[in-house]
Amino acid sequence: MDATAGLGRDAFLLASLGAQVTLIERSPQVHARLKAGLAAAAAEGDAPTVETVARMTLLHGDARELLKGLSADVVIVDPMHPERTSTALVKKDMRILRELVGTDPDQFELMQAALACARKRVVLKWPRKGPPMPGLRKPSHQIIGKTLRYDVFMTPSTERIAP
Ligand SMILES: C[S@@+](CC[C@H](N)C(=O)[O-])C[C@H]1O[C@@H](n2cnc3c(N)ncnc32)[C@H](O)[C@@H]1O
Repeated sequence: MDATAGLGRDAFLLASLGAQVTLIERSPQVHARLKAGLAAAAAEGDAPTVETVARMTLLHGDARELLKGLSADVVIVDPMHPERTSTALVKKDMRILRELVGTDPDQFELMQAALACARKRVVLKWPRKGPPMPGLRKPSHQIIGKTLRYDVFMTPSTERIAP
């Protein structure tokens, strides 16, 4: 489950690796762009692209609400990150999203909904040096990249069976 679909890059990557991905996007403008992009890829893409897109299901709505009626092994949360001081460092995709969406001030509530939904884990994509999200428990572990990190929160059903 990708609770913050945006322009679908992360979901496409995961689907290309074989995952079935449900994407949730609440911005009507971003959802419309992504829907059109997926439709074009399904109609005009090469065979691997068509197969990948067939594993992606796009929903329109607020994940804080939609996640209550859904379940998934893994939920990915990639909210709009705090703005960087150097705009030169911000990729074009992200600039477009920022213009359309602004910020996501309710990301803590989204994380709570994701933690309640995920059977195995929630993965929060966050700036590498970003401060922890206020109020959120410590991650079970982290995967740290050059500019980003992935805070991984194992969910209780998994932690009960972990050694
Ligand atoms: C940083 S972008 C995600 C980029 C995405 N990971 C990608 O690869 O393109 C954040 C997106 O999440 C969406 N979003 C934030 N909170 C949401 C929520 N509660 N429900 C659904 N979409 C949400 C925003 O509208 C925005 O498009």
